[in-house]
Amino acid sequence: MSVDEIRGQIDRLTQTLKEHNYRYYILADPVISDREFDMQLKQLEALEKQYPQYAHPDSPTLQVGGFINPAFTTVVHEKPMLSLGNTYTKEELNAFDVRVKKGLGSHQYAYSCELKIDGLAISIMYESGLLVRAVTRGNGKEGDDVTQNVKTIRSLPKQLKGSYPQKLEVRGEIFMHNKAFQKLNTQRITRGEPPYANPRNVASGSLKLLDAGEVAKRPLDIIIYHIIDQQQTYNGHYEALEKAQEWGLPTSPHSRKCHSLAEVFNYIDHWESERKTLSFETDGVVIKVNDFEQQEELGFTSKIPRWAISYKFNTESVLTKLLSVDFQVGRTGAITPVANLAPVSLLGTTVKRASLHNANEIQRLDIHHHDNVFVEKGGEIIPKITGVYLPSRSHEATPVEMPLHCPECNTTLIRNPGEAHHYCPNESSCPPQVIGKIQHFISKKAMQIDGLGEETVELLYQSGLIRHMADLYTLTYDQVVHLERMADKSAQKLIQGIKNSRDIPFERVLFGLGIRFVGETVALKLASHFKDIDALMSASVVQLSEVDDVGERIATSVFAFFQDASNQHMVEQLKAAGLQMHYQSSSPDIQSNLLQHMVVVISGVFNTMGRDELKALVESHGGKNATSISAKTTFVLAGDNMGPAKLEKAQNLGVPIIGEDEFFQRLHTATESSTPFL
Ligand code: IVH
Repeated sequence: MSVDEIRGQIDRLTQTLKEHNYRYYILADPVISDREFDMQLKQLEALEKQYPQYAHPDSPTLQVGGFINPAFTTVVHEKPMLSLGNTYTKEELNAFDVRVKKGLGSHQYAYSCELKIDGLAISIMYESGLLVRAVTRGNGKEGDDVTQNVKTIRSLPKQLKGSYPQKLEVRGEIFMHNKAFQKLNTQRITRGEPPYANPRNVASGSLKLLDAGEVAKRPLDIIIYHIIDQQQTYNGHYEALEKAQEWGLPTSPHSRKCHSLAEVFNYIDHWESERKTLSFETDGVVIKVNDFEQQEELGFTSKIPRWAISYKFNTESVLTKLLSVDFQVGRTGAITPVANLAPVSLLGTTVKRASLHNANEIQRLDIHHHDNVFVEKGGEIIPKITGVYLPSRSHEATPVEMPLHCPECNTTLIRNPGEAHHYCPNESSCPPQVIGKIQHFISKKAMQIDGLGEETVELLYQSGLIRHMADLYTLTYDQVVHLERMADKSAQKLIQGIKNSRDIPFERVLFGLGIRFVGETVALKLASHFKDIDALMSASVVQLSEVDDVGERIATSVFAFFQDASNQHMVEQLKAAGLQMHYQSSSPDIQSNLLQHMVVVISGVFNTMGRDELKALVESHGGKNATSISAKTTFVLAGDNMGPAKLEKAQNLGVPIIGEDEFFQRLHTATESSTPFL
């Protein structure tokens, strides 16, 4: 290679790695695997070592990782949050052990082996046992204050137990369990939103939300793997984690102390095959020299500790042929390119299709028709094309490109600036969009029309009997009885089912309209706030934003939906058909009488749910809500930032103040053990 070429390669690698860092840390939407990233980083490191004169002063090789998000307050870490060196083979691990042995002279040492959880790092401060601050890793030196969001994690104590140190910093990994991830994605698909690629992205995206209420809806979990305690009364990492567990902190039950490299290898082999049985994603094992004095002796390089390293599990990757690409049109009009592949077996299942996500992904892969492609299971769940095998590409191969027109209705596609997806704007007559919207409308959680399934909707549409949801209400027995797969009974059932759906409550009608970002909960909140469709339709963005759980994004979407003339017309038709357009508050389901005869005043800001939901919860346990504190108040349920006047009044009257966590804890204990709440 010429000097110019070397310089060019360093520039290119620097630039691409920076872009990947940005995607990973800021957009929480990485497009290459960690392994690929590490390979490229190692390549850049090697080049920089040989040609330091061409290295960029802000090279990604010097960065610990992460970026600061300007929307949050920045906090400087008391001790930098470092990253770990990665190994991929036992030879590399052996070399690490040799370095450790050399560094420690002839002394004995033990390793603590832990699972490497694929989430994001967090630092949490406890003072006098109280959780006071939680900060993301950011760039390693300083991170974002995400305390409110982290407080929504149920398994994380807001108050420590036992004899904890006065000041304690713990570090750990925030992640989402696979089940919760799958549930969230199913909900997104029902709402017509593109699914998330893996649990790590959701966990990371969730922590960056500005609304802690929204975060509380994403069930995040945490494992603590690092303790910084100045008053330590134990001398090793493994023992520190045991103490942390006594203080009530969630640590991993899978950590092991190993006394030889052979034991470490056993641990790795065990988890390499057993990781599928875990409820969360793990991408490797972290191996740490256990003794604190020995850790200190080994010290750090500028970026990573010399006393710890990670071993990354192999992600199985297979090569297969791209047969064709379909462009699917979703309910919201988003176009998703999907690769049809020559069937290939991967981690126990046969893979035939893989999403190409959007135009950016197609461009990144530079994928051509009939290429041979590498397929991996991203996060072990969803198959992903990670690269193209160039040597087998034919000379005539042409690149895969997004179509200019909708494959279903031929409307010119649009792509809004800054958005990854192409959209078909023909919402009102592009068949899959229309059919998808009607299918959503009749679904179980919306109008729940008995006798009408997704296929029948398609059939009704294809035969020209319906063009939008309101047309369902003018269908007659004679029209449907002659349809394919229909007979007297099924036709009667269908017509009756449609008729019965007129009694479905307003909030479900609203959910059924399929307004972007309006899920079941938001629909209920909007219905109970505005009471009827007319008030909702004439609400401004500001008025909409006043509703619990409705932020600007949702408010804008609802506003735009009702500004649209064809939507207004459709609502009028649904109204004329006799659907419920007024909110009827149903008394909440009675769950227990634990709070019977109790008067509760709710005050402050809560992490787990909104105030309306809390009020309903109190009522569902037989309690009464009141707005002001008096001698009759049984207790105050206090969130964060309770007003000082209220606090004083409660104290003067001797009314007990119960915090959010304590409230749930008491409810839980009382329910489980049939003891009184107070
Ligand atoms: S120890 C100085 N232990 O992996 C020690 N990290 O690649 C720093 N991670 O930033 C970390 N599980 O986000 C450690 N059991 C574990 C871990 C773990 C996941 C993450 C963490 C860290 C990254 C380093």
